[in-house]
Amino acid sequence: MKVITTIKEMQEVISQFKSQEKSIGFVPTMGFLHEGHLTLVNRARQENDIVVLSIFVNPLQFGPKEDYADYPRDFERDRALAESEMVDFLFYPSVEEMYPNELSVKVTVQERTDVLCGSSRPGHFDGVATVITKFFNIIMPIRAYFGKKDAQQVAVIEGLISDFNIPVDLVAVDIIRETDGLAKSSRNVNLLPKERQEAPVLYQSLKAAEAAINEGERDPVKLITLIREKIRNDSTGVIDYVQIYSYPQLKPLEKLEGTIIIALAVKFSKVRLIDNFITNID
Ligand code: PAF
Repeated sequence: MKVITTIKEMQEVISQFKSQEKSIGFVPTMGFLHEGHLTLVNRARQENDIVVLSIFVNPLQFGPKEDYADYPRDFERDRALAESEMVDFLFYPSVEEMYPNELSVKVTVQERTDVLCGSSRPGHFDGVATVITKFFNIIMPIRAYFGKKDAQQVAVIEGLISDFNIPVDLVAVDIIRETDGLAKSSRNVNLLPKERQEAPVLYQSLKAAEAAINEGERDPVKLITLIREKIRNDSTGVIDYVQIYSYPQLKPLEKLEGTIIIALAVKFSKVRLIDNFITNID
């Protein structure tokens, strides 16, 4: 595995493989790799000749009061993990390399952002869409791999790819969970021990909603109430949102039908966790 820190070198390597008609699979990350990321890498490894993993904590997607400075980082550990998963190139640019000057053009996401994380993180998805556009132009992958835990991110990037005619297949990979159901996330290390014990309630509340749907419940308001009560009763976390929308359009629903997402975000003392459940209703 080779670590590349400059855009110029990354583009030279990519153009070499493109001229040999090699397929390039790309896994964008902000590092502090966990099993969720490694599942994406594994899938990319199976489906492509060349695998590029990026590690870049993108300042553009953090608000002024968000955890950019506290976002966990451990490059040496990440490098070893990437190597053991047979990544070919680890792209690890600095902030100065990615944004040498104030950008004169940024991507603005118009739809699918006024709900879920978008409504409490203004500008977040503009930052994600901007950095992903840069990465797609630098790495020119044929496939890019994203986790379904960030389901709104998947919906936004699907829109970006489609609206800008970007020749990339987005591969959305299922959520990977700890044995107690907590969705794997780099941010989980910032939970206090008591909060870590409570955090599986996010998944348990989604499972309770799933059971209610299977028993015939179709009223989004009742399902949201069920989830909120379970989280309130079983944790000290403060609910940021519990919402139900059509997926991937992220439009409100009066009655559950078609493909839907139930998504939630809960704030603990130093970290905000998200989780979701996507299902198809006849
Ligand atoms: O999901 C993430 O880790 C980030 O939003 C991404 C896609 C790497 C863009 O910075």
